[in-house]
Amino acid sequence: MNVVLDYIERNHAAHIEELKQFLAIPSVSTDPERKGDVLRCAEWVLQAMKSAGLENVQLFPTDGHPVVYGDFLHAGSNAPTVLFYGHYDVQPVDPLHLWTNPPFEPVIRDGKIFARGAVDDKGQVFMQLKSLEAHVKSTGTLPVNVKVLIEGEEEIGSVHLEAFLQHHRELLSCDTVLISDTSMFGEELPSLCYALRGLTYMEVTVTGPNRDLHSGVFGGAVENPANALCGIIAKLKDEYGRIAIPGFYDDVKNLSPEERAEYARLPFDEEEYKHQLGIAHVDGEFGYSTLERASARPTLDVNGIWGGFTGEGAKTVLPSKASAKISMRLVPNQDTHDIAKKFEQYVRHIAPPTVKVEVTHLHGGNPAMTPVDSKGVQAAMRALEKAFGKKPFLTREGGSIPIVLLFEKILNAPVVLMGVGLNTENAHSPDEHFSLRNFYRGIVASALFYEEFVGIYL
Ligand code: BES
Ligand code: MN
Ligand code: MN
Repeated sequence: MNVVLDYIERNHAAHIEELKQFLAIPSVSTDPERKGDVLRCAEWVLQAMKSAGLENVQLFPTDGHPVVYGDFLHAGSNAPTVLFYGHYDVQPVDPLHLWTNPPFEPVIRDGKIFARGAVDDKGQVFMQLKSLEAHVKSTGTLPVNVKVLIEGEEEIGSVHLEAFLQHHRELLSCDTVLISDTSMFGEELPSLCYALRGLTYMEVTVTGPNRDLHSGVFGGAVENPANALCGIIAKLKDEYGRIAIPGFYDDVKNLSPEERAEYARLPFDEEEYKHQLGIAHVDGEFGYSTLERASARPTLDVNGIWGGFTGEGAKTVLPSKASAKISMRLVPNQDTHDIAKKFEQYVRHIAPPTVKVEVTHLHGGNPAMTPVDSKGVQAAMRALEKAFGKKPFLTREGGSIPIVLLFEKILNAPVVLMGVGLNTENAHSPDEHFSLRNFYRGIVASALFYEEFVGIYL
């Protein structure tokens, strides 16, 4: 193992330079104008896999952005197979003016690398590729069989990946799936995530009169769709922070007393949390702590709302239309399609008869919970402890990785969520960054994971 760790140390500066190239490609999956850049990024990943020593490296086209695959299957048929999954696509960069440096010109400041995708997920994908490279280049092999699957549509709901998994069950068959796309509890507090929330993302458009109207001439006599939309939104939650959609909580798996005790033990500083965010008070569902609210309870949020006049100054207008993008985070065992249906029914039910309502289901994914006693999780716990010098916590997280549950269902393999990001690293926000110290320790932890996994497995 020492030669592997030596390799990681010796090449650290070079790894950072290569990561910069990866981060410079604007692979924004949701933006049709970036389709060429997304493809270029997939090709870059393909080359990076080749130079890491992976074999059978190929691009698979999908109906959306391509999937990149590679493997290294020389550990023998008794050895277990690990499938590493990550994503090379990134979120949009707006608002651009809030970035200290341009989002696709990576820079290093204070031991952190700044760029869109730095922590979510290019930095963490690259860390995994480098851990594989370290094994292959320093020992000529790997302790386990490894398959690598890097997709380009995670940030838009992994829309084409389910079909890909179904078609390539054989190619992707494995004993465990490893993912590095989550956070640790704190810079010096490694943790392993065992549950993610799901997502149901909806768009609602409310239409009133057939054109924008003079609000002095018609206001008061004609329903204002923007007002109507606000009325609908106001009825989505009650005064206790509970979601008012009938049946919304039917399938929610409540926190067990043991889990709540585990949450209470986490070293969480609520004052620091509020200070970090510039808020005076936290808020959420009555009866739950901040950490529980943000990871183990379902939510409903308006992501954007528009309609009427939004330019400088004032225009007196009664708009014809108003829209909102509304997402719900789900917890086990809620189902994204079931929730979409319940949302639509309720919105239609509460909408006033004076407006027309359109409800669209944009995308979503199911929540997931992974078994903490699996061999993969046990191996990851040991690897993290060695790399970070501390026993990791077990945590649940509020974000979503839509494909996790499908790995379990389609490939019948448990998932290990070994992420080393920090929730303070501005994923999806301006000035996204990744701690280079965690990038380094993450490569070490990943390299150790394969070693620990084979040890536990055989
Ligand atoms: N890496 C995140 C998910 C995540 C973030 C998990 C933090 C745990 C902690 C992922 O890239 C992501 O952003 N997912 C989207 C999913 C969606 C677009 C379907 C999300 O959670 O909003
Ligand atoms: Mn991610
Ligand atoms: Mn993301």
